[in-house]
Amino acid sequence: MSKYKELQQIFIDRVEVKHYIGLDSSILFYNQLQESIKKPLKMILLYGKPGTGKSVLIHKLHHDTKSEHNVYLIATPIQSEKEFIQRLYEFLFPDHIIPDDLTFNRFIDLCHQTREKRHIIVLLDEAQLYPPEMLEKIRLISDTRTIKFVVSLHKTEQEDLIAKEHFQSRIWETIELKNGSLHDTSMYIQKKLVQQNFFEIAHMFQKKHFKLIHQFTQGNYREINKLMYTLFEIYDYYENHQPSKISGKTIKTKYIEMSALKLGYIHA
Ligand SMILES: Nc1ncnc2c1ncn2[C@@H]1O[C@H](COP(=O)(O)OP(=O)(O)O)[C@@H](O)[C@H]1O
Ligand SMILES: [Mg+2]
Repeated sequence: MSKYKELQQIFIDRVEVKHYIGLDSSILFYNQLQESIKKPLKMILLYGKPGTGKSVLIHKLHHDTKSEHNVYLIATPIQSEKEFIQRLYEFLFPDHIIPDDLTFNRFIDLCHQTREKRHIIVLLDEAQLYPPEMLEKIRLISDTRTIKFVVSLHKTEQEDLIAKEHFQSRIWETIELKNGSLHDTSMYIQKKLVQQNFFEIAHMFQKKHFKLIHQFTQGNYREINKLMYTLFEIYDYYENHQPSKISGKTIKTKYIEMSALKLGYIHA
């Protein structure tokens, strides 16, 4: 694979723990989350715009704590109530066989009965995809205090409403993830490149480049990924067609602007 194609791959969205980068902001949110799960809360809401790193954070938390045998992750929402309850049952009673007649009410009873013996933490990613009735049931389960939920939710206006209606009164603790600062943006890009041994490329980015990238993406990690992917797509094109256009020791600002144009951040 050509160099610039490889560089494009680095900036594809992925939530693998081995690619986690400890940025100032993500470390802060991570520590906050770790503190929160120790507290006697029923639920913790992890909140933030798409691309602020919620999934990455929740996967990292799962990875770091799963050896404790009481932290479980549901990465993709389970749409059927029956399957959802079955999954929780498996988490709560790993040595049991799921009863055929497991209903929601039966499960609530079991939660009450087991409360003194076992507590678990369940991480729910992409929780905006659960229908409101399910969120209501999740809330009722959390009321038993046998299962504590960490609910990760996109922040959009509509979901703001869902969050308010369903959770506001009950919980808890809210951790709101924000876009990265200029510093986070440059650290993110540099660390990603260095992680994959692209030292010379990392050196080609200067403060003015990071400023421009931050300006276009607002420090949103998903948008930074898209911009970097597009930038290396342009470099790949010129390498194959007009290599002289990408000679030089630094990244050309022009190509960052071209990427922004292509992605619709700016208009010609
Ligand atoms: N701390 C981090 N370390 C490494 N990559 C990150 C980090 N935070 C965000 N990213 C990148 O940004 C992308 C978007 O983050 P994600 O967790 O999917 O956002 P959200 O779940 O809030 O929409 C991820 O696919 C990943 O590539
Ligand atoms: Mg996500």
